Amino acid sequence: MPASSLDQIVSLCKRKGFIFAGSDIYGGLANTWDYGPLGVELKNNVKRHWWKTFVHKRHDMVGLDAAILMNPKAWEASGHISNFNDPLIDCKACKQRFRGDKLLEEKLGVEAAAVITLEQLQPMLTAEKIACPHCGKCDWTPAKKFNLMFKTQQGVIEGEGTDIYLRPETAQGIFVNFKNIAQTSRLRLPFGVAQIGKAFRNEITPGNFTFRTREFEQMEIEYFVEPGAEGPAFEMWKDTVWNWFTGLGIDATKLRIREHATDELSHYSSRTLDIEYDFPWGWGELFGLANRGNFDLTQHQTFSKEDLQYTDPDDPTKKFLPYVVEPSFGCDRTVLTLLLNAYTEEELEGGDVRVVMKFDRRIAPVKVAVLPLSKKENLISKAQEVRSMLIDQMDGNIDFDVTGSIGKRYRRQDEAGTPSCVTIDFGTIGEDATQGEVDTVTIRDRDTLEQKRVPISELCTSLKMPN
Ligand code: GAP
Repeated sequence: MPASSLDQIVSLCKRKGFIFAGSDIYGGLANTWDYGPLGVELKNNVKRHWWKTFVHKRHDMVGLDAAILMNPKAWEASGHISNFNDPLIDCKACKQRFRGDKLLEEKLGVEAAAVITLEQLQPMLTAEKIACPHCGKCDWTPAKKFNLMFKTQQGVIEGEGTDIYLRPETAQGIFVNFKNIAQTSRLRLPFGVAQIGKAFRNEITPGNFTFRTREFEQMEIEYFVEPGAEGPAFEMWKDTVWNWFTGLGIDATKLRIREHATDELSHYSSRTLDIEYDFPWGWGELFGLANRGNFDLTQHQTFSKEDLQYTDPDDPTKKFLPYVVEPSFGCDRTVLTLLLNAYTEEELEGGDVRVVMKFDRRIAPVKVAVLPLSKKENLISKAQEVRSMLIDQMDGNIDFDVTGSIGKRYRRQDEAGTPSCVTIDFGTIGEDATQGEVDTVTIRDRDTLEQKRVPISELCTSLKMPN
């Protein structure tokens, strides 16, 4: 049985140390979340797997880590200062503020709500009798544009600093480095640049755990192609990304593709589709794929007055601004989806229920747990030897647990999603041949619950992870 409610996941995340409420001891800061010991391992593994798939395994991709703070002219050029807005609507009765389109979306569905204009929002909310989620009244102000960029000041003298912005997408760091990368990497079109990093948006209505927050992480690719080649590139990325998500074990029946209607498109896009996941509260965007054409490079070329054209290496007289296809992943949404997807309750013989996080092995926060059967000193030291060997020879986090019965320890590892537990018993140290031969250990599989005995010398091969 998968997770049926978000509350189940939120409480497991807190109890097991995947995700905590931010600034918890001060009563929290609304909608901020901290990744705990298991959460940071899971998130790092997702990022590593993403980088390996989209950068290291491809001949046409390179990486970048650009600054969060950028020259404010970059945001004028990109259109974010004038166009990066959401429709803000106020409840006249209780003065709470909401995103008007999201209120409509809950009633009419995402497709219908997406095409409603700013002017239509208040009349539509009134006609549909959509009440304020806070006070229950239906008395709305007209909707107005609200810019989502976080503004701050650069400089040491208060009041005299320059206004700068926290980036609302990682993409622009790639566009402003296009010339640097094209010149230094000597890549030929088509090629892409990948970046993982934080982005910030002053969201009007954050919520649903880590789904919509004001500080989040993106994993973005800008894929540069010759003008005219963007159609096939768009299809290639649609399939590649779908396969990446399903390859990580995400249930394909809980994924769908949604094309944006023309009047829903962002200011820079001529075609966008989302991959959506069926979250406990309904379908929501997990990933976006956009055809940004040459909008961004044209804008940056105009504003910076730098020539950003690509020169065809076979014909230096052929210069042009490449077109761009952009696969954009939310890292936190990917992690949330993987948590929801992994959560499983299984009824065991005797009616007991086992909670197990069935993560793909490549992203599991703990790869292997080493469990000495008892706290006897020579068992512990043998187990520590095995643990050191695994740390040296395997990629990833190896846990060591000596507390509680072996059954309880298995259950703890099931809830952490650890694919394999390795038990060191008295057979291993040559003190009880009935438990097994000397220098052999038991591997217990998280999903099948099967146990097999292997020599320590073959342990790493038996535990080998897929790439
Ligand atoms: N560069 C294109 C871009 O930023 P987007 O659809 O606005 O496009 C891309 O964002 C992805 O970033 C989304 O599909 C989502 O996964 C993630 N994302 C966007 N806003 C978010 C937020 N407030 N909290 C968490 N993730 C968010």
